[in-house]
Amino acid sequence: MRIRSSEITPEHVYRSRSRRQFLKAGMLAAGSALLAACGPRSTPAPTPAAAGASPAPGGPAAGLTDELGDPATPFDVVTNYNNYYEFTTDKAGVAPLARDFQTDPWTVEVGGLVRNPQTFGLEDLLKAFPTEDRLYRLRCVEGWSMVVPWQGFSLADLLQRVEPTADARYVAFTALFAPDRLPGQSSPWYDWPYSEGLRIDEALNPLTTLATGVYGQPLPPQNGAPVRLVVPWKYGFKSIKAIVRIDLVAEQPKTLWNTAAPQEYGFYSNVNPAVDHPRWSQATERRLGDLGRRKTLPFNGYADQVAGLYAGMDLRANY
Ligand code: MTE
Repeated sequence: MRIRSSEITPEHVYRSRSRRQFLKAGMLAAGSALLAACGPRSTPAPTPAAAGASPAPGGPAAGLTDELGDPATPFDVVTNYNNYYEFTTDKAGVAPLARDFQTDPWTVEVGGLVRNPQTFGLEDLLKAFPTEDRLYRLRCVEGWSMVVPWQGFSLADLLQRVEPTADARYVAFTALFAPDRLPGQSSPWYDWPYSEGLRIDEALNPLTTLATGVYGQPLPPQNGAPVRLVVPWKYGFKSIKAIVRIDLVAEQPKTLWNTAAPQEYGFYSNVNPAVDHPRWSQATERRLGDLGRRKTLPFNGYADQVAGLYAGMDLRANY
């Protein structure tokens, strides 16, 4: 059989294509293997005894409850059970590894499709945007959750300051890249630095918070010091820690988890008990400190404030 010359793939195209396929296949295999470590039962979650540990000295009074009547998760649990892959995939190992992580000086560059790009030192942020107490539920995609008393301000305040142009449809967030200080960044399986993204209307929703404190203290390194995102109606991995860049962009930005395993971690990642993760159910969750599981609420209980953002969208297709 004769092969027409138009059917012969030039070698350089073939090489780059097969290299891409090879990389992609490797990525997927590695992604699933490593993400298994991110499964619901990987690290034993705190038991009621551990969760009963005392709140931070000088922290808010005991008895702090959210609008659903659920108590704040104790300080010791919030600051010792962490997901922070730049340090380690072992939740209990993050705090000790991050203890000496230097976050001063620190700047956050805000740019892209804006009329007024700015670079903020942490002190500038704190001066320009007064923080307030925000007690929000955090629901991890792995099936555990907590109630966290953050201090922070609405991302919308910052975005208004830089004046997005009419073309800005998404916001892209980038975390620190410093493999010499962040041992987990030597792992080739992730597309470092950690990145996340929101649609601009999601970013402008008043619930979307830039947090600089927890329990009345500056954020400790393990919780994302000195500044992190908190998006309470989305799975916790959208709440990117240690932010150094925020860009207003026209196209949906790539994100670390969506790049690593797109079929498992969608761009939207709204908490949705009706759409399971391919490897586990999302119908229920374990609140750290509880023995049993409780039902997961649509949009993590914030439907009144955010469901309208998704009117008319198929939330199964846009998981
Ligand atoms: N941000 C960065 N830079 N690196 C991470 O590994 N993990 C995410 C998110 N933000 C992560 C991150 C995940 S999976 C969760 S559940 C939350 O942080 C956990 O936040 P916490 O440790 O403060 O509870």
